[in-house]
Amino acid sequence: MKNNAESALLARDGAHLLHPLHNPAAAGTGKVWVSGEGAYLVDANGDRYIDCLSGLWNNTAGNGRPELIEAAHAQLQSLAYASGYIGSSNPRAIELAERLSAMTYPNINHFYFTSGGGEATDSNIKMARYYWKLKGRPEKTKVISRVWGYHGVTFAAMCATGIAAYKPMFEPMIPGFVHIPSPYPYRYDAPADAPSQGIAAANELEKAILAEDADTVAMFIAEPVQGAGGVIVPQDDYFPRIREICDHYDVLLVSDEVITGFGRTGKLWGLQHWGVQPDLIQYAKAITSGYFPFGGIGVSDEIADVMLDGGKPWMHAYTYSAHPVGCAIALAMLDIVEQEDFPAQAAAKGDYLMNALKSTFAEHPYVGDIRGLGLMCAVEFVKDRATREEFDPTEGIGPKIHAAGVERGMFSRVRGDVYCIAPPIVTGEDTLDRIVDILAASTKAVLG
Ligand SMILES: Cc1ncc(COP(=O)(O)O)c(C=O)c1O
Repeated sequence: MKNNAESALLARDGAHLLHPLHNPAAAGTGKVWVSGEGAYLVDANGDRYIDCLSGLWNNTAGNGRPELIEAAHAQLQSLAYASGYIGSSNPRAIELAERLSAMTYPNINHFYFTSGGGEATDSNIKMARYYWKLKGRPEKTKVISRVWGYHGVTFAAMCATGIAAYKPMFEPMIPGFVHIPSPYPYRYDAPADAPSQGIAAANELEKAILAEDADTVAMFIAEPVQGAGGVIVPQDDYFPRIREICDHYDVLLVSDEVITGFGRTGKLWGLQHWGVQPDLIQYAKAITSGYFPFGGIGVSDEIADVMLDGGKPWMHAYTYSAHPVGCAIALAMLDIVEQEDFPAQAAAKGDYLMNALKSTFAEHPYVGDIRGLGLMCAVEFVKDRATREEFDPTEGIGPKIHAAGVERGMFSRVRGDVYCIAPPIVTGEDTLDRIVDILAASTKAVLG
């Protein structure tokens, strides 16, 4: 029987393992992955699937890269672990900070490493609060973020996250977290007299700062392209206006580059599309292509100077900060990103994919929007194209299309009825064609 191996493992899995975003009572959605080959995953039955979301947006180099495996192996042999506390360091961490300093935004030259993106969000919130205390403005503590923003689910990161479903189990939230609407070009309705949709959406930040009192706002955190919220690409005038507002009201601009960093959108960093420089950045995921849990923050010279002049130890610590194996894999990954020009590859392949998606779905009666930047794309299904009316969530159109895709050998994620497509940057054109074919067949199976 074809499905026996995976079913047997799933039965054991349900007995003891708790999973993120899952309840075993929702049977039928589980998969057991046993190996990976480039842009493909192989399940416990030996069936191959296109890894249409690069794992969780992270595995941009694909599975089985000898350079990353070798880097981990060599580092494990020489030094598996050493503390990064109270001034202890290791050569790979020093090299990684140097490399990042040369490749991030020009004003970002100081780095702190974490085990992932949520820890990076918490680190930036704490950095922003500490900075304002040192500047003699301790009342500047609030965090503004956006609806559909995803910044992780550690407690503070969850409060910044703007996807409602993550919160009810854990309320009350921490006070002082405020959400403004997403610029969402397909759905944000700007006032009729607004200079543009992008400016109107950015001005939502100004409204929120004024409503809260600028003297209480520490930072605004935003993903250059909102990922988990459904691949929302902002208007070209959005982030330049956001930068102006942040400057005007002394609010730090934090760029959450956990998905967009290291080439995904067609540039090394997301805000480079609009010539905007943030005050703080955060990254994770593709920095190790998912081969090791790793992330961190990047701090502007201005903030680092204030912090270091403060003269006190920064009372923020993770056992695995600056983990030598994570740093070694990250260094090998940065070689790949540069030598294989991931930004250029993502730009070209993103164009190819977008053209194919548009020629297949542009006239589809239930496709409202096809969007993307680089190799970060999505198709939004709607009940009525003319009014943008959504399907009733109980119909589960998005999950059904996802399930139909799985039956046809493709694995990704949906946000409601938005199908996200962000395969590894190394994905070949033949596989990009298959993604579009499978999505078309899955859509037909569900919507006719
Ligand atoms: C933009 C963004 N920030 C933060 C996170 C949280 O990262 P982690 O799951 O490593 O905590 C994610 C995860 O998807 C993300 O997409």
